[in-house]
Amino acid sequence: MKKVSIICLSVFLLLSASSCSSKSNSDTAVTTAATKQSAVHANAKAHSTEVIDGVTYIDGILIVNKTYSLPKDYNYGLTNETLKAFNKMKKAAANDNISLEIASGFRSYEEQKVLYKEYAAEHGKKEADTFSARAGYSEHQSGLAIDVNGADFSMIGQEDMKWLKKHCAEYGFIIRFPKGKESITGYSYEPWHIRFVGKNNAKEITKQNICLEEYLGITSEYQV
Ligand code: DAL
Ligand code: ZN
Repeated sequence: MKKVSIICLSVFLLLSASSCSSKSNSDTAVTTAATKQSAVHANAKAHSTEVIDGVTYIDGILIVNKTYSLPKDYNYGLTNETLKAFNKMKKAAANDNISLEIASGFRSYEEQKVLYKEYAAEHGKKEADTFSARAGYSEHQSGLAIDVNGADFSMIGQEDMKWLKKHCAEYGFIIRFPKGKESITGYSYEPWHIRFVGKNNAKEITKQNICLEEYLGITSEYQV
């Protein structure tokens, strides 16, 4: 803790930032309230965090996980970049006789709320939290995530999932909830769920065999 405080102090002095404690929703709320539009500061690992209209960007990458939520009205559908990259990837896959379809792309806050409620009713909240995001915490609401060809654990090991793992970084996507990173992402392995982060980030994350939380030096944990 002492070490972190020292690093934070130096970052504070360097950047004249308003806050540099480790990230949390309450931290984010304070930052947002203080500046309304935008705030930039650095965490202990020198990643830059920017909060714009309640949406958190770390090193310029929009982040939504169990720690960082999206506003209810963040409602813009799949981004053009994501769709374009997916369509390009789909064509390349077709050349390899692999069919890739969007099973689920953008999901609104309200749609996610209904989905999570159904899973929680069926499996209990604790189990539902391992595979379904609570409303406001799903990457699908960001318009940057796609479930390819379905969302079913029986798909693990399928040829289409293998193709996706091997090639998605070439188009700017990562497998967002990789095998072996469950305790960091907060979710079970989902070979079908891809997240657009741009080619450079995707290639680096894939090369390092890390998840997005590790790449950005953040956690994925609900506060309540
Ligand atoms: N299945 C992922 C975690 C979601 O619900 O966004
Ligand atoms: Zn998904």
